Amino acid sequence: MSDALLDVRGLTKAYAIGGRGFVRPAAVRRALDRVDLVVARGRHMGVVGESGAGKSTLARCIATLERPDEGAIRVGDVDALADPAAARASLSMVFQDPASSLDPRWRALDIVAEPLVRLALAPAERRARALAAMEAVGLGAGEAAKRPHEFSGGQRQRLAFARAIVGRPALVIADEPTSALDPSTAARLLDLMARLSDEAGVTFLVVSHDLHAIDRLCDDVAVMREGRIVEAGTRAMLAGAARDDYARALVAAAGRG
Ligand SMILES: Nc1ncnc2c1ncn2[C@@H]1O[C@H](COP(=O)(O)OP(=O)(O)O)[C@@H](O)[C@H]1O
Ligand SMILES: [Mg+2]
Repeated sequence: MSDALLDVRGLTKAYAIGGRGFVRPAAVRRALDRVDLVVARGRHMGVVGESGAGKSTLARCIATLERPDEGAIRVGDVDALADPAAARASLSMVFQDPASSLDPRWRALDIVAEPLVRLALAPAERRARALAAMEAVGLGAGEAAKRPHEFSGGQRQRLAFARAIVGRPALVIADEPTSALDPSTAARLLDLMARLSDEAGVTFLVVSHDLHAIDRLCDDVAVMREGRIVEAGTRAMLAGAARDDYARALVAAAGRG
């Protein structure tokens, strides 16, 4: 097994804009342009960049929710483009808005337990693991029967993280996990993420324009602009010797946050 938990090479993805799709598009936008990214096991990676830089497209491609036009993605020893189902067994994803990513008709415990269905566990074992995941994010058994709308925004995002860790994935991809939360709720969620990484052995790939979130959690940072990674390194290294003006501004802003 290699040291890299995630190894992305040459990832390219274009969208047709306007016109009649790819048959005769008015224009083609390169959301990702030959992106390389390596996430080491146990080192949280932050991807920052302004809106439209391609961060969410990168996250969705890695999570196998979208297929790139070109490039390669390895998750551990799995070729994620050749075998997306195997890749999904070792990763999960959390979205910005838990209200729209959690099915409003389902009870909390069922939402959290759903990723376990593929494991063919006995119902009692599935329930026990889902309850343990809820407890890990600070939601008790008393909350198991509630539906998403009965929780606060911060609790819903905790629920989303319980669902993300219940299958014990090595990699959790979080796309703007704190952007819909007020600052103190966001700070508590970041503390929770740090604790989950210790307790559950999860490595996070956090995509955000919230530089404070990246600064608080991540060991390594990649800066995206117009579909490309323009800077990458340890957070400390980038803050000290950024070669790119834009990257320097971002990392300086993160330090102030
Ligand atoms: N499904 C889509 N169809 C067309 N264009 C898209 C789609 N998703 C993203 N884009 C475009 O790709 C670029 C990158 O978007 P995105 O990955 O969402 O950036 P970010 O998350 O950094 O804000 C933007 O120009 C966006 O408009
Ligand atoms: Mg985005």
